[in-house]
This record gives sequence, C-alpha cells and structure tokens, in this order.
Amino acid sequence: MSKDKVQIFDTTLRDGEQVPGCKLDTEQKLVIAERLELLGVDVIEAGFPISSPGDFNSVSEIAKLIKKDITICGLTRAVKKDIEVAADALKYAKYPRIHTGIGTSESHIKHKFNSNKDAIIEKAVAAVKYAKTFVEDVEFFAEDAGRTDNEFLARICEELIKVGVTVLNIPDTTGYCLPEEYGAKIKYLRENVKGIEKATLSCHCHNDLGLATANSIAGVVNGARQIECTINGIGERAGNTSLEEVVMVMRQHPSLGLDTGINSKLLFDTSRMVSEKMGMRVQPNKAIVGANAFAHSSGIHQDGVIKNRETYEIIDPADVGVNESSIILTARSGRAALAYRAKIVGYELTKLQLDIVYQEFLKYADRKKEVMDEDIHEIVSATKIAI
Ligand code: KIV
Ligand code: ZN
Repeated sequence: MSKDKVQIFDTTLRDGEQVPGCKLDTEQKLVIAERLELLGVDVIEAGFPISSPGDFNSVSEIAKLIKKDITICGLTRAVKKDIEVAADALKYAKYPRIHTGIGTSESHIKHKFNSNKDAIIEKAVAAVKYAKTFVEDVEFFAEDAGRTDNEFLARICEELIKVGVTVLNIPDTTGYCLPEEYGAKIKYLRENVKGIEKATLSCHCHNDLGLATANSIAGVVNGARQIECTINGIGERAGNTSLEEVVMVMRQHPSLGLDTGINSKLLFDTSRMVSEKMGMRVQPNKAIVGANAFAHSSGIHQDGVIKNRETYEIIDPADVGVNESSIILTARSGRAALAYRAKIVGYELTKLQLDIVYQEFLKYADRKKEVMDEDIHEIVSATKIAI
C-alpha cells in the first residue's frame, strides 16, 4: 500500500533551544543541523533571527550549510521588522521559509494584545502578505490554536489562504487539547476552510498533559501533513512532540497509511548527540530512545524475551539504532536471565550448577541495585563449584 508522506518539521534548534540551560552557539547548532539533514527531516526551524545577533548568525550559517532539498525556516512575530530580519538571515537558503504568526485564542487576543478578532485577522494577513514579498514559502502559526474556537480559526485560515500562505500551523501551545479534540479541530478546518487544499496543515503540540504525541498523531490521521517536533521531545515547559515517537508510531502502525522520510536507524545516536550538546539528560524510561527502552529486568519478561524478543518488544532495537535488547540482572531476575548473562561472560551452566549459582546471585542482588558482568565472576567463584 502506498503511504502518504508526513513532513517532519524539526524545531529542536528553535522551540527546543528555548529550554533554560539548553542554549546553543552557532557551532553547536551547525553540527546538529547537519545531523538533522542526515536523519532526513524535511524542514529545519533554525531559530528566531530577530531574537539575538547570535541566533541571526546561526540561521544564516545553517542556511548556507544545508544544501540538500531541506527547507530552512526562521520564526517571526507578525511584525514587519521581524520578517525583514528573518528574510535577511534566510537569504542563502536553497529553500527558505518564513514562519510568522500571532495569538488567536480569546485569552491571547484579550490579555496579550488587548485587541479584537478583526484586528488580529488584519495583522495576520498583513504579516503573510509582507513575508510573501521576500519568500514564496510562508507558514503561519495561530498561537494557542488549541484553545481558539474553531469558527474563528477557520475564518483566519481562509483569509490567509487568499493571500498565499503555504502552511497553516495549528499549535496546541499550552498542551491543553485531548487527542479527539485536536483531531476534530484539524478535521473541522479541512471541511470548513475554502481553498484548504492549497495549504498544508501542520501540528505543533506541546506536552503539558503528556499528550503531544497522541495529539500530533490525531492531527495527521485527520488530514494534517506536517508535524512540528523536537529530538527527545525537548521544548518549553514539558516539551514539544518528540520526533522519534511520532516517526515510530507511523512506522509501527502501517494501517495508518502514513510515513516520513526519516532514517530511523539514526534516532538513538541523534538523541544522544542532542542530549550531550544541550546538557539535557534523556529520562531512562523515555519511549524509543531512553536507556531502558529495550531493557528487561523482571524474571517473567526476561524469560519471554530470551525465548522470543517479540514477546515483550514491539520495535526491533536495530530499527532505531540500538545494538540489542538488554537483559538487566536485579533481584527480580530469574534463572533464565542469569544463565543467559552467565553464558555471555563465559559460563555454560548445567541445571544443577545454575540452581546453586542462582541462590548465591539472589543474596548478592538483594544487596545491589544491579548485578554487572564482573559481579557474575565473583558470584560463581563464591559458590566454589567446579566449572
Ligand atoms: O507553541 C507555539 O505556539 C509556538 C509557536 C511560536 C509556533 O512555538
Ligand atoms: Zn511551541
């Protein structure tokens, strides 16, 4: 079955880099951008050029460096000066995109802008029109679209299509939506915005309720064709949609009929590289790339995985660049796991020998969080059995 392509818009270098303590210099951003190119992303949001001279320089250098068919994007507010600066930073890009936008929810219109709906539409249209004088590809973000009423959102999208917007970003800025709600929002726009086929709908979901991945998938199932995400899901507050998660959801569920151009075998290495450059640890239980994502430590699970990996794993670790599943020895491990790991370090134990070594192992494991290879030698020698 041929699959529909979902564009991967990576915003590690913009939304991801907004995390306190994660700021990168141009050198580091260039290394990550090269890796994103290798990974196969479609769009790199390289930064927010007006925010600082350093960020302007990073966007400009990335635009010069990336020569493959990848779009380089710069963020702006719906402000003329921002747009001019972004256009300047993007001038060397083979495929430049200006990403402009404004808040559209009641709360943003009232409290942030002290404005009204008509004035917001006017500003949005003016920003897109102005950005179009510099580049063909203009994406618009309706900030806080997750809490914006669908009718108003449709109105603004329709006006922007009339002036040539190419991508309509529907951010769940505060991570508030439920998957059904976010999916229904995308569906509503597809069904109620005249000319919607002329633009790509994009999902940009934050993870405040742990729903960013589910919401992005609900978005593409309902017709969006771009997901904005970051490596390791880093980003403001609880983070953005995690790139590795959405990619693997689509890969592991062919029935969705959706796929990306990502080389999934590079996911683990990319995750480690970004974590190291940003000084941001990956939580061990993080889906796909966490240290424990393919580690098994309870006896029942270990026995199953040793007999057949698929009993407790839905992804082949090699598909995401992890060498192999690991069998961790703890006080909850069983004989099968001990025999398996003992064999790796050189002991082919008979059933009787295993029974004796296992009793010694349990005493040892109760004292230690994890039993390592070197400990196995100590345990075997403590039993004084001849092997
Ligand atoms: O979360 C958000 O709304 C954003 C926009 C600036 C795209 O990051
Ligand atoms: Zn965001």
